[in-house]
Amino acid sequence: MTTLLRIDSGARIDGSHSRQLADYFQARWAEAHPGGHATVRDLARDPVPHLDNASIVAFHDAQSPDAPTGTKATTLSDALIAELESADDVLIASPLYNLALPSVLKAYFDHVVRSGRTFSMNGNGYHGLLSGKSVFVVAARGGSASPGAADDFQIPYLRAILSSSGSLRWR
Ligand SMILES: Cc1cc2nc3c(=O)[nH]c(=O)nc-3n(C[C@H](O)[C@H](O)[C@H](O)COP(=O)(O)O)c2cc1C
Repeated sequence: MTTLLRIDSGARIDGSHSRQLADYFQARWAEAHPGGHATVRDLARDPVPHLDNASIVAFHDAQSPDAPTGTKATTLSDALIAELESADDVLIASPLYNLALPSVLKAYFDHVVRSGRTFSMNGNGYHGLLSGKSVFVVAARGGSASPGAADDFQIPYLRAILSSSGSLRWR
């Protein structure tokens, strides 16, 4: 069964353009994938916390071969990564907030972009550990920045961070 993970990040619910765009995409995706299943992670209704010291230490310790698995401080990150790994397609709905992405979406990336889990490093740089997925981004803005403009820190950031985590095809 083909699966879609939809990630909403806009704080506005009623009248939200990014959510309407995501609704449209999800409906078209469902038409194209009969029998497919969509999971919604709404970072506005159910925000993930900012990374704390315990999580960063646990992420580091988890890379040790004799590390205990499933420590409490990695539980959320492990669950978010498992959700991401199980998705065939990923849809990210991101409004532009103060020239960048919403902080809840940045916090989400801080939990899932994790050394040894979703990327690795060697002398040649970063290597993504997720493969075979397509990520689709719907972005909304009020108009003060256009995609790729010098004051747009949203689209360039999303391109970079999504590329770092795997062979994700930018659409
Ligand atoms: C806190 C906040 C900051 C915003 N900053 C910008 C900005 O820097 N540039 C811009 O063009 N629009 C900005 N906007 C406008 C939103 O990008 C625009 O209203 C978008 O449609 C919001 O997404 P939504 O419709 O899904 O809520 C901002 C809106 C909010 C609420």
